[in-house]
Amino acid sequence: MKKVRVGLLGFGNVGSGTYDTLKMNMGKIERETGVTFSIDKILVRDPSKPRRSEAPAELFTQDPDDIIGSPDIDIVCELLGGIEPASQYMLNAMKFKQHVVSANKAAIAANYPQLMKAAKDNGVEFRFEASVGGGIPVLSALTSVLGANDFSEIMGICNGTTNYILTQMTDFDLDYEDVLKVAQEKGFAEADPTADVEGFDVANKLSILIALAFGEYVAPGDISTTGITGITKDDIASATARHQKIKLIGHATKDKSGKLEYSVAPMELPFSHPLAGVSNEFNAIFVTGNAVDDLMFYGKGAGPLPTGSAVAGDVLEIGKAIAKCAECEK
Ligand SMILES: NC(=O)c1ccc[n+]([C@@H]2O[C@H](COP(=O)([O-])OP(=O)(O)OC[C@H]3O[C@@H](n4cnc5c(N)ncnc54)[C@H](OP(=O)(O)O)[C@@H]3O)[C@@H](O)[C@H]2O)c1
Repeated sequence: MKKVRVGLLGFGNVGSGTYDTLKMNMGKIERETGVTFSIDKILVRDPSKPRRSEAPAELFTQDPDDIIGSPDIDIVCELLGGIEPASQYMLNAMKFKQHVVSANKAAIAANYPQLMKAAKDNGVEFRFEASVGGGIPVLSALTSVLGANDFSEIMGICNGTTNYILTQMTDFDLDYEDVLKVAQEKGFAEADPTADVEGFDVANKLSILIALAFGEYVAPGDISTTGITGITKDDIASATARHQKIKLIGHATKDKSGKLEYSVAPMELPFSHPLAGVSNEFNAIFVTGNAVDDLMFYGKGAGPLPTGSAVAGDVLEIGKAIAKCAECEK
């Protein structure tokens, strides 16, 4: 059986979720793909730190060169977070002809053209399903089974923290600050929630969605972005009285002439809109294609296992391609 060797950069929520997903389902994965996947090295900052899942101590390293450029690693999974050094690590891995999987929307959105070019120039795969909507398989769907469509609109609730806050404000008539505090206590919001509540995280994800659905790169900084910090209880009560829900939406449209418009902002949606029923930490992406018509993807946008599921899925796709290539060369 072909063995594909994987290196993880990062063993936090997503790194450990990826490790657990592959471990939990390896028997089934081997049977169905004819490939065995082994996680052979894991980069972390502090190997002595307690982890949410256990991996053998000898797998951990603090030296990125044990993974990037190592002839013993076929696929590098970048699960660090932040724009640097993550972007440089991905570019370096591609130069060494290693395939790359990432969950890092900030790095991908910031450096999308360079990363795509490096993957093409070096003849390697670059997959990043987990970067938008966590466990929701929207990116692969846009580029594979929906690839025959011309898309005219994308609307996404793609940040669980802000959707949780807005849902709680709406359902329990609460103030923004009070809900944020509870969300932080429950782990639904970061200690510094700026990237989420100001809409920057959604702008990164919308940039990636636009690139895949419309074939154009729009830098996240060029997307007009308004978060939810200005939404009050009164705004929500007024919307509710008009049978509308307020949701933070990453929105992009393409008109018949091909002109794109895009923004991240709180939007009022009628109760009847499929996105209005997406509550709490759940995510959903609503797309309109000229053949498939309206379609909604719904599920868990974050969390170790849902996100690990998407990273592992990308690893499997690459592993299958590696195995097929090996067969062809025989
Ligand atoms: N959390 C989610 O549900 C989710 C969902 C979708 C996408 N993502 C994306 O996935 C990525 C990872 O998120 P996460 O929640 O797993 O983050 P996390 O829990 O903070 O884990 C980050 C990991 O990377 C390691 N690390 C960070 N910088 C490093 C460096 N310079 N050198 C070596 N190791 C380094 C950390 O090492 P130590 O453990 O030793 O500190 C840690 O193991 C981010 O880009 C995030 O946006 C996350």
